[in-house]
Amino acid sequence: MEIRGLGYMGVGASDLSDWTSFATDWLGMQMIERGNIARAFRMDDRSQRLVVDRSLAERERYFGFEVDDAASLRSLAARLEAAGVKVRQEPTALADQRFVKELISFDDPSGNHLEAFHGAAVADEPFRPGRSISGFRTGALGMGHVVFHVKNIDDLLGFYRDTLGFGVSDYITTPFRAYFLHVNARHHSVALIETGKQDLHHLMVELFSLDDVGQGYDIALGEPEKIATTLGRHPNDAVTSYYLRSPGGFMLEYGWGGKDVTPGNWTAKEVTVGPSLWGHDRTWLPDDQRQKARDMRLKAAADGVRQPLHVLDGNYVRQDGVCPWWDAAKARG
Ligand SMILES: [Fe+2]
Repeated sequence: MEIRGLGYMGVGASDLSDWTSFATDWLGMQMIERGNIARAFRMDDRSQRLVVDRSLAERERYFGFEVDDAASLRSLAARLEAAGVKVRQEPTALADQRFVKELISFDDPSGNHLEAFHGAAVADEPFRPGRSISGFRTGALGMGHVVFHVKNIDDLLGFYRDTLGFGVSDYITTPFRAYFLHVNARHHSVALIETGKQDLHHLMVELFSLDDVGQGYDIALGEPEKIATTLGRHPNDAVTSYYLRSPGGFMLEYGWGGKDVTPGNWTAKEVTVGPSLWGHDRTWLPDDQRQKARDMRLKAAADGVRQPLHVLDGNYVRQDGVCPWWDAAKARG
């Protein structure tokens, strides 16, 4: 299948300045002016990853999925059309605006506007983060993941899995139903969460260093009403993160330490200890579900559920031995 990852995302906004301070001072993205209509934000070598556009309605958004080349775009378009999905070949002017060579667009069954593209432009200048961070984990994993509120997962699962070619990483059934879907080593590039609504639930971006996340949390604690979900850790993708209320009416998950999956060689399992190992108090959940999620965390803790960290070269130092007490006992003979 053709899709390689989430390449970019665009959101409508009436106020560009709210987004600018949020994306640069809180998230550490780099702002690029695009006239007085839009602002683009860089996360890496690409010309843009997140675009905030005043010409779009507040809740109007688009999600750009990357494919390798023109031939992959053709075969994806053909499969979508064979499945009865209306596909638009977008004009060069829109490709120029997206900073890609070519794109098509189509809607998912709940009306999310998706695009597929190839040939993303790389900027001439190196990435300069908006605040001092080590950087975003993107590359072959894409810009992060998006999670959609859906009325019924069964209406969308076939589209994402069979038509777009996503693999199911795992799923949860309580305190709400959710499916996590991958197209690359990132545990999920898309997830569907059954809340009865149709909207964007959150965008997740991943940092190289846990301290980037902790230092961002310190900044957010200055305006605690903007913290939607407290610092915590997911059991399935192993990400340590918190969620902010973005200026766009959806949440922004700011995380570290995502676990890789192996596309094509992965068995989906139900995750029963989630949706979080600890923390992640979801202030947006109805009280009964919030309490249920807390009860599940306390049970996971009482049961001793723990997970190793998933680290990258350069963001950890391996200590000598497994256990200093045991190493010392062995050394004494
Ligand atoms: Fe997430």
